[in-house]
Amino acid sequence: MNYKLSWIFPKIRQEDYRSMARERILFECIECGMVTLRWLGRCPQCDSWDSFVEKQEEGVKSDRGKVQKEVRPIPITDFGDLQMPLSSKKLSSGIKEFDRVIGGGIVQGSAVLIAGEPGIGKSTLALQIAGFWSRKNGKVLYVHGEESLHQIQDRARRLDSCHNNLLMLGTNTLQDVVSTIDSDNFSLVVVDSIQSLSNLELSSVPGSVSQVRECTFELVRKTKEKDIPMIIVGHITKDGYIAGPKVLEHIVDTVLYFDGDGKHSLRLLRANKNRFGSTQEIGVFEMGSDGLKEIVEPSALFLNGRVEGVSGSIVMPILGGTRPMLVEIQALVSKSHVVQPKRGVVGLNLQRVTLLVAVLEKRAGLSFGDRDIFVNVTGGINIDEPAVDLPLIMAILSSYWDIPISLRCSAFGEIGLGGEVRPVNGSKVRLGEIAKFGFQKCFISVGNVNPPLDNDCVGVKVVPLNNIRELIEFMSNMEG
Ligand SMILES: Nc1ncnc2c1ncn2[C@@H]1O[C@H](COP(=O)(O)OP(=O)(O)O)[C@@H](O)[C@H]1O
Ligand SMILES: [Mg+2]
Repeated sequence: MNYKLSWIFPKIRQEDYRSMARERILFECIECGMVTLRWLGRCPQCDSWDSFVEKQEEGVKSDRGKVQKEVRPIPITDFGDLQMPLSSKKLSSGIKEFDRVIGGGIVQGSAVLIAGEPGIGKSTLALQIAGFWSRKNGKVLYVHGEESLHQIQDRARRLDSCHNNLLMLGTNTLQDVVSTIDSDNFSLVVVDSIQSLSNLELSSVPGSVSQVRECTFELVRKTKEKDIPMIIVGHITKDGYIAGPKVLEHIVDTVLYFDGDGKHSLRLLRANKNRFGSTQEIGVFEMGSDGLKEIVEPSALFLNGRVEGVSGSIVMPILGGTRPMLVEIQALVSKSHVVQPKRGVVGLNLQRVTLLVAVLEKRAGLSFGDRDIFVNVTGGINIDEPAVDLPLIMAILSSYWDIPISLRCSAFGEIGLGGEVRPVNGSKVRLGEIAKFGFQKCFISVGNVNPPLDNDCVGVKVVPLNNIRELIEFMSNMEG
């Protein structure tokens, strides 16, 4: 019995488990906030591993349950002609890429969560915006809970963000922040980070799910009441028992994920939820000693360092929102020396790659059973659009046969399980981008050839494909 229980609940000792059961201790997932009666290794809701911690009992508080004034529903037709104060007041953050991702600018009274791994540059981004904002729109409150004033000042000097309208508040308590917001007229509030704040009325530790949720809720309520925008910085960490920003997603208006390869200086900003704009746009930045620099022409950056005459590489135009970007897809197919050949993927979905390899085997009669396949998207980009299928297959075939694809050749298109090449959206924009960078040939689906391509694409010879058999015919005649 002893053995079995400790086997099922490896993190909890037998006697602890008994006392927990007696005291009705609950467990809570730090990623999504799911509550269970027992500790689980994997969260059934959000699938994260090792994310359950003991749920902290809360002290009773709050007048939130009390009825404050009489409320009644109103027919929508009785509103009259309401002004749209929210959407009409989009203010620039001073960083064009940030504005584009967020939908044109920061909306008055909205709460924006910037989430990312530690060290990726969240504080840098927030301070850069705060510096610009304080010069342009008046007083900005910057709450720094985890760094010393010295560190912040050092960074602000580096980023050229120092201004006497930028007011720093070093505190770890929510009550201080709320009373400071009440005490003055701020045009923006920045909280860096939400995990460092705690509500004194709750007994749980800072960074716990309930603290993070409660503090965000109160801050959002306050800033909505005063109609000022707020930027909240939140860390994402799988381990370390810090509550993930997932529990905040429904409270805030916009969730931005800031990521990138820590080893490269490239940083990507994308919206995961946006009440005021699209979630398709991608913002591209470069981290330097004087802060984050916008990269207006990301394609040129991603195309850097390509080598002529090497097999297994092709460039494709991806569509990050309204703006296309050129990225390089690389594949390496080599003889396997193990029983089960390896499949390694960076920047793409492994299942999708396995599926496409199976389609190649079935529809083109090739065999990859004795080959290791590695696939990579350069620049730390993650591609999740189906248009990558065709260039991916081309890169795999190019490496398999060791036939280099010309540096001036591109492709985009989805591949179905029958081996058919399917059309994708935004073909005109994609072709326009590859034409701009001097590409001469592009493989696409026949479905994308109609309606006739416009003048932007002059100079690019389009090769329409019905299925991968036609592609293989083309490639076997390509010879470099
Ligand atoms: N003096 C410096 N020169 C250049 N880059 C720096 C300097 N100091 C910090 N950085 C960059 O800033 C990053 C940390 O940014 P920060 O905004 O503190 O991240 P976060 O708030 O997400 O933890 C570092 O990983 C580094 O890339
Ligand atoms: Mg920071």
